[in-house]
Amino acid sequence: MRKSVQDLQSMKSNKERIVALTAYDFQTASIIDSYCDFILVGDSLGNVFKGEETTLGVTVDDMIYHGLSVSRGVKNAHLCIDMPFMSYQSSTTDALRNAGKIIKTTKAQSLKLEISFDTIPTIQKLGNAGIPVVAHVGLCPQSFNVYGGYKKQGKTRANQDYILALSKEAEKNGASIIVIEGVPDNLASKITKTIKIPTIGIGAGKMCDGQILVTEDMLGITPSPHPSFVKNYSNMRVLMKKSVGKYKNEVKKNKFP
Ligand code: KIV
Repeated sequence: MRKSVQDLQSMKSNKERIVALTAYDFQTASIIDSYCDFILVGDSLGNVFKGEETTLGVTVDDMIYHGLSVSRGVKNAHLCIDMPFMSYQSSTTDALRNAGKIIKTTKAQSLKLEISFDTIPTIQKLGNAGIPVVAHVGLCPQSFNVYGGYKKQGKTRANQDYILALSKEAEKNGASIIVIEGVPDNLASKITKTIKIPTIGIGAGKMCDGQILVTEDMLGITPSPHPSFVKNYSNMRVLMKKSVGKYKNEVKKNKFP
């Protein structure tokens, strides 16, 4: 049975780390499912799957297509799907409509939103409608054009205070989990200690309640250089190239079949 948001919240109480990865397709989901507590269909599929520079072009239909494929492969982990850029920022009504469409079609258990104080009421509305929200704070890739690139956040005291206050407000308004991306370790640690709901970090140090990485980054499928916080647990890109090269040689030399 898939883990619920309550199961993940109990992990925080029991001081058990949350293991999280991304997936965009059925095969990857079915390989990683038994090792993960939380699987995210991230809108990073814009960069990783579609080869775009940002996540801004990802659509609700993209998330439904990939979410449905991943959903078929997830039996153990909690399944969360990203709401893409401009599917929830324009109005709470739009957010509810798009969220409902994603949840109904994919059978995901929660949705992740890159939040600001403007979208706090949406967290509550989605919760009231029966949709658990994972709130993403810190470096929010959908704000690429505001930052002028993928830039670490929480560099000033004022920005640290903003991110901490936003995390507290998200919890107060019913968020189930907080994803913290690209902030100094001490800020992620402070948020994790201050709020009761679990934090899952990426590029935010080791003090979060769990860690998430893009699967294709940690497996070394995406080309280097990776962000500095990524650890390569294998180099699948080299392995795949070697295998395809071997296949090519054998076909050219009439050794295969
Ligand atoms: O889109 C994504 O994959 C994410 C994770 C990296 C947290 O938001």
